[in-house]
This record gives sequence, C-alpha cells and structure tokens, in this order.
Amino acid sequence: MSKLEDIVSLCKRRGFIFPGSDIYGGMAGTWDFGPLGTTLKRKIMDEWWHYFVESREDMYGVDAAIIMNPRTWVASGHLATFADPLVECKECKSRFRADKIASGITESVTTEEFLNTHTKCPVCGKENWGPIRKFNMMFTTHVGAVLPDDDAETANKNLTYLRPETAQGIFTNYKNIVDTIYPDLPFGLAQQGKAFRNEISPRDFILRDRECSQMEIEYFVAPNAWEENFETMRGLQHDFLENVMHLPADKLHEYEVPAEDRAHYSKRTIDFMFDYPNGEEELMGLAYRTDFDLQNIARESGKSMDYRDKVTNEVFVPHVIEPSIGVERLMLAVLSTAYTEDEVNGEKRIVLKLPENLAPYRFCVSPLLKNKPELVEKARGVYQMLREKYVNVTWDDSGNIGKRYRKQDEIGTPKCIVIDFDTLEDDTVTIRDRDTTEQIRVKISEL
Ligand code: GAP
Repeated sequence: MSKLEDIVSLCKRRGFIFPGSDIYGGMAGTWDFGPLGTTLKRKIMDEWWHYFVESREDMYGVDAAIIMNPRTWVASGHLATFADPLVECKECKSRFRADKIASGITESVTTEEFLNTHTKCPVCGKENWGPIRKFNMMFTTHVGAVLPDDDAETANKNLTYLRPETAQGIFTNYKNIVDTIYPDLPFGLAQQGKAFRNEISPRDFILRDRECSQMEIEYFVAPNAWEENFETMRGLQHDFLENVMHLPADKLHEYEVPAEDRAHYSKRTIDFMFDYPNGEEELMGLAYRTDFDLQNIARESGKSMDYRDKVTNEVFVPHVIEPSIGVERLMLAVLSTAYTEDEVNGEKRIVLKLPENLAPYRFCVSPLLKNKPELVEKARGVYQMLREKYVNVTWDDSGNIGKRYRKQDEIGTPKCIVIDFDTLEDDTVTIRDRDTTEQIRVKISEL
C-alpha cells in the first residue's frame, strides 16, 4: 500500500474520515468526517480563525450565504471563465482534465498541444481523443419552485450556482461593512465555509473534492501599498503553516504562477505547494486580485465601492490581497506529516504524531484493569478532573493496556494516563508519551 492508502485506511478505521454517502456506494469527490475528523477539522479552523482574525485588530469575520444571486457570478467572471480543459476519449468515452493526465501542459492547453503529448487514455490505453472543451465547474441549482414541464425560460429564471469560492460572499458585503463599522484601511474580511466545484476528476483522497471548505481573507489595501501588504501576508502564511500547523518548512515550496496560468482576477499569484504522499500539490494560494472584483461589483450593481481615506481624504477603490486555503488540503498535509510507522519492542506500530494543539484528544485516562472497581473509581475521578481543566480528554478501558496504547497512538493522543494499584497508595499515576513511549510517574495534583 502507498502512504496515502495507509492514511485513507487509518482515517476510516479510526473514525476520522469516511467516503461521502458510503452506505449507498459513495458519491465521488465528497467526504464525511467522523467524530475524530470533525474535532481535527474544527481545531484546524479554530487555530486559523484565532491567528488571522481574533488576535488582530484589522480583521473582521463574515459568514455569507452559500447560494447567491446569480449576478454575483456574472460580475466575478466565474460564469465566463471558471472552466477546466476537458478531454474525452473517443474509444471508451471516459472524460479527463487534460492537464492532469498529460505532463508538460497547463490549464490553458489547446487541442493541438494536447495531441502533441501523445497521451494514452488512462482507462482503455488508446490514443484517440476528441477536442479540448472548456467545462465550467460551477454546480447549478434552481431556487424556488421549478417543475419538470416548465419551459427553458421559466427554469432559467430560477437558475443559480453553488459558490465555487467563499470570496464572493466577502466582496459582495464589502460595502455593507464599510458603511456599518467604518474600518481603517488596510483591513481584512475573513470567512470560513463550504465551496463547491464540479471537478472533472476528484482524486487523492481529500485533496481534490467536489465539496470542500475554504478559509479565505480579502485584505483591502490602498492601491499603491499592495506590494508591501503582499509580502507581509506571505510571511504570515509561512508562520501559520510552520509554527501553528507545524508543517515542516522543507516540505513547503513557493511557486510563482506565470501570467498565462493565473486565475482571471489575479495580477500576481504565489501557490504554496506541499510535498503530499503522492507528490507536490497546491496547498494554498496567495493572490493579488487588484480592484478587479470591487470594480466589477460596482458595474453590475450600480453602487459605488469607493473608500475615503480617513487621513488624506483621498477617494479610491481598494485593491485586494487574498490568501486562500482549503481546510481538507491543510488537513491532509497535517495528517501526512503526522503519519509515522515505527517499531516498538519488535512490533510494527502506527502512530499519528499530531501536534498537541491539533490532536483530537490531549489525554487518555485508563484504569489498569477494568474489573477492579477501586481502580475504575479512582480513574473516573482523574478523568473528570482533567476534563474540567483541558476539555479534550478521552476515557479508554477497552482491551488490555497494550491495545489501548496502540489505539491512542493511531488517533494521535499525546499522553496516556494510567491509574494502577500504586495510585491507590501514593496518589501517583503513570504518564506515557506517545512519541517516545517513555513512561514517568507523577502526582495527580501535578497533572
Ligand atoms: N478565492 C480564490 C480561490 O478559490 P483557488 O486557487 O481556486 O482560489 C484556493 O482555491 C484554495 O482552495 C486552493 O489552494 C485549495 O487549498 C482549495 N481548493 C480549491 N479547489 C479545491 C478542491 N476541489 N478540493 C479541495 N480544496 C480545494
């Protein structure tokens, strides 16, 4: 099994992540998070929110609707340009994203360039391709009552899209926020939430999904100050990824995206790439979106997006720096960094070396034997005490102690606390360290 398959297997076995709609045979590109995955995801999102919003004076939160007026997607350019290059095999009718099955080409590939790569169909092995067609990745939906026998005009009136980025929920609220809380420039609006993309080929576990969660900031700056703010934001991303998410710096790489591959709204983009188990992939993007979005919204809505500088009285439409990261991609980077196999007493061990701030549980409390009421009672007391102090504490009295350690290692619990017969004598407990497996004895009062 590859390392990615090992991670997928561990995530399912231990209740982190299940295939979406598993019971009905799945739904490609969707994933459901079990109890431990939900906690890990929440911790990642909370750390991001704390780092970029709560601990700063210049950032404000937004929580906008997922279904937006379709004019949003006309103004943003997504209706016209949010498309991937789709190619169909004429032999077996399989459809692929061209730039993902051929090497040395990009999203802007032409039919001729693709045919020159002499790529064989990954399903049937033949080389008989149709032309490259642009496939818009937005999911459509109808708002309100639409009946199967409605004519196309009636049905189209109710047509809209699931948001492909959370960003537009921020841009469309820019004026509301400027008019209600009068923020000083530069300021940022942050949002966490679901985004939907009808990916041609979802793949690599939670890396490329059809339904994902994004964490995005639109940081509004004076037009002539974009470069310094871009640099500051770039440094903050590294600090967050390396010192809060604890991703190894040598697995993170910056890629300066060339003009022809940048999104339609961007004048500069750096993709932060990560060495995932299956190779280097984009973890997040940092883009200079200029005033592209606000100017388009002004045109489409007829409302001014001007900002009056409180010091100079100058009036302008702010420019925007946007860091954007997918929660699932970040989670996969965290999981693949933590996933380790080693040997303890001659036995293979799987251990998730999650950092303490992200591990679903900080402590696991156990009685050495579950059929000794005096041990269980003492252990329950320690468990209650730690729960009140640290919240993320679990109880485990299943199987024997060795099996409990294996399970807690696999779910990444940094410390296991065991109550034994000595505890009844001297009020000390054993604390076992997940990474070193070393055990020490400490007083309960010192926990
Ligand atoms: N608002 C800008 C934007 O959406 P993007 O590069 O298309 O830019 C930003 O997406 C980030 O969202 C990506 O770097 C990635 O972390 C995440 N993302 C995008 N598409 C995704 C997908 N299909 N599955 C999982 N995460 C995705």
